Amino acid sequence: MKQDMILILDLGSNDNAGLAREIRGLGVYSEIHPHDITGPELAKLSNVRGIILNGGPNRKVNGELINASEAVYQSGLPLYLSDHQGHAPWPISATDRRKVLEDFIFQTCRAQKTWNIESYIADQVERIRRQVGNGRVLLALSGGVDSSVVAALLVRAIGDRLTCVHVNHGLMRKGESEQVVDVFQKELNVNLIYIDATDRFLDRLTGIADPEQKRKIIGGEFVRIFEEEARKQTGIEFLGQGTIYSDVIESGTKTSQAIKSHHNVGGLPEDLHFELVEPVKMLFKDEVRAVGLALGLPQSMVYRQPFPGPGLAVRCLGAITRDRLTAVRESDAILHEELEKAGLDQQIWQFFTVVPDFRSTGIKDGKRSFEWPVIVRAVNTVDAMTADVPELPWLVLRNLTERITREVPGVNRVLYDLTPKPTGTIEWE
Ligand code: XMP
Repeated sequence: MKQDMILILDLGSNDNAGLAREIRGLGVYSEIHPHDITGPELAKLSNVRGIILNGGPNRKVNGELINASEAVYQSGLPLYLSDHQGHAPWPISATDRRKVLEDFIFQTCRAQKTWNIESYIADQVERIRRQVGNGRVLLALSGGVDSSVVAALLVRAIGDRLTCVHVNHGLMRKGESEQVVDVFQKELNVNLIYIDATDRFLDRLTGIADPEQKRKIIGGEFVRIFEEEARKQTGIEFLGQGTIYSDVIESGTKTSQAIKSHHNVGGLPEDLHFELVEPVKMLFKDEVRAVGLALGLPQSMVYRQPFPGPGLAVRCLGAITRDRLTAVRESDAILHEELEKAGLDQQIWQFFTVVPDFRSTGIKDGKRSFEWPVIVRAVNTVDAMTADVPELPWLVLRNLTERITREVPGVNRVLYDLTPKPTGTIEWE
């Protein structure tokens, strides 16, 4: 079935992604395209039922006038012009805005409600089969939501012609790599190459205290290991990637280009000629999660918090040592258990622990101790650009302190970081 679409023309409004998500929430697919879309580009999108000139038809962005392209007017498609002289701004109340949208989409454009997760999955499975043919796909499976959902989609589409590589850099959270192996290898029967590269990463990181250098080493080593594995796998022409729609949409206010293709394979050498397969490229994060759940991935994987690529390395401050890394991992696991027990885990956007590279005096078992503190970090945010610190109940903080100082070797204090972003960043390094 041809899927109806409402096209949002990017005229620099910072509300484009929210609007596209809102329209999809009404059951109609929506995409954002640059203001200067050409006639032939528009003609290719034969399923467009109407166009919203969001913030248009012309706007000044950074002193530059952004005009909707002529092709938009010549298309003969229904247009909705918002927020411009002579045109109605979006109503402030969510209910009124929804009514305006519904009138435009269903009355004016006569769009059909054909957008839902099941049809997306069916459509992508078809597309993957068409793209890949009898070929094979390689996928770096980090255990994060996006690559996990891509793996689940690919296995449904091409079964054992998918090979996943999970590189455990030794900087994962407690139980994370084990879960990847359990879910994908044991339950979903995926060809999974598990590489325990803990020693390789930790050896390379020995004595490196500068955060950016740590990140560089980890990123570089990761690519090298993946590349080594890719070379061993002969006859693979495709590379799966967990690019999502927010990676694809450039924030429209900075430039007039709404779409940019910036997700090439980070640093892979050019003689590895892979064609990309990116089956969640048009999805928002919550839609990626819904696809994951529909494909049977566990909640704990699908609702996993954002986790930096360099993993616990940026939470084991300064030069990493194995014992402090264990302290970060164990205290993080306790924090997760305690917040889950208190029913707070789904209400806080991101939380984790940090172990600095200094010690303080304390008393343990009646004797003087000289050990590390654990810093608890919890933040709420919408876009990770700014963040607030939630007020954790005192009892939860007390339980945490008691458990962490008792159960985690080498730790004698627990601190709660009260700093919003700004002035702090979310991570410490
Ligand atoms: P900051 O610390 O910049 O973090 O306030 C914002 C969000 O980004 C995550 N983060 C990273 N993610 N690689 C990543 O993939 C990184 O190097 C990195 N550093 C920070 C952080 O966890 C938070 O969600």
